[in-house]
Amino acid sequence: MTLYIIGLGLNNEKDITLKGLETIKKSDFIYLENYTSSLSCPVKSLEKLYKKKMILADRNLVESEVESTILKNAKTKNVSFLVIGDPFSATTHVDIMLRAKELNIKVKVINNASILTAVGITGLQLYKFGQVTSIPFDNKEIKTPVEVLKKNQKMGLHTLFLLDLNPEKKEYLTVSEALKYLMGNNVSRDTLCIGCAAIGSDKPEIKFGKIKDVLKVSFRKYPQCLIIPGKLHFMEEEALETYSTSS
Ligand SMILES: C[S@@+](CC[C@H](N)C(=O)[O-])C[C@H]1O[C@@H](n2cnc3c(N)ncnc32)[C@H](O)[C@@H]1O
Repeated sequence: MTLYIIGLGLNNEKDITLKGLETIKKSDFIYLENYTSSLSCPVKSLEKLYKKKMILADRNLVESEVESTILKNAKTKNVSFLVIGDPFSATTHVDIMLRAKELNIKVKVINNASILTAVGITGLQLYKFGQVTSIPFDNKEIKTPVEVLKKNQKMGLHTLFLLDLNPEKKEYLTVSEALKYLMGNNVSRDTLCIGCAAIGSDKPEIKFGKIKDVLKVSFRKYPQCLIIPGKLHFMEEEALETYSTSS
């Protein structure tokens, strides 16, 4: 039958598209990928609105057991695979699509909002972002995020840092930990940055200022991400000022 790969959007059960909801309703199995990002609502809220039971798909199921579970079912049934945000944005789900195609399983993708575009709320122009990079929990020896930052800065581009998470254990790398990591790698305390939390929710937390000032902000929501802006257009500056730590 068909494997539907469906984006859930960024915040809660209501961010699904109508097309996504209709597809879930006609699916025999629904897998919820629950390790690359997190929603602000419990799984029960999805089940209540979608009127379907969710099968939680952790990293092991998706990366090692996918053929004996999701793909096996999709050979004869309609299967929905739900991904928070957009399925192919900053996630690694191309693999499941390719494996399904190799097995002659029909694949349909239903897109949704992603953190990669939702950061537009800061006022930064999306086409002026350079390479996106991730800061892992265990980052003492990790240099890639700083190297990516330097490369982007050379070209005047903005840098989006995705911050590690482990939603099952409710562990999230915070904006302040990410800033400390950058300072520990010789990024100046006077560098401008934007800390973001729970973008896409009713009350996203967004703060703009120098690293030393954003460090003092306590972001209470999750997930969080961090942006170091590149060369700013005056319109971008104007938008960022609305999020200033000093206002
Ligand atoms: C691996 S990415 C997954 C992206 C997802 N597939 C999407 O399209 O948005 C997860 C990371 O993006 C960032 N992120 C995701 N949603 C966010 C949100 N609503 N607000 C702030 N940061 C977010 C966090 O740094 C999080 O650890």
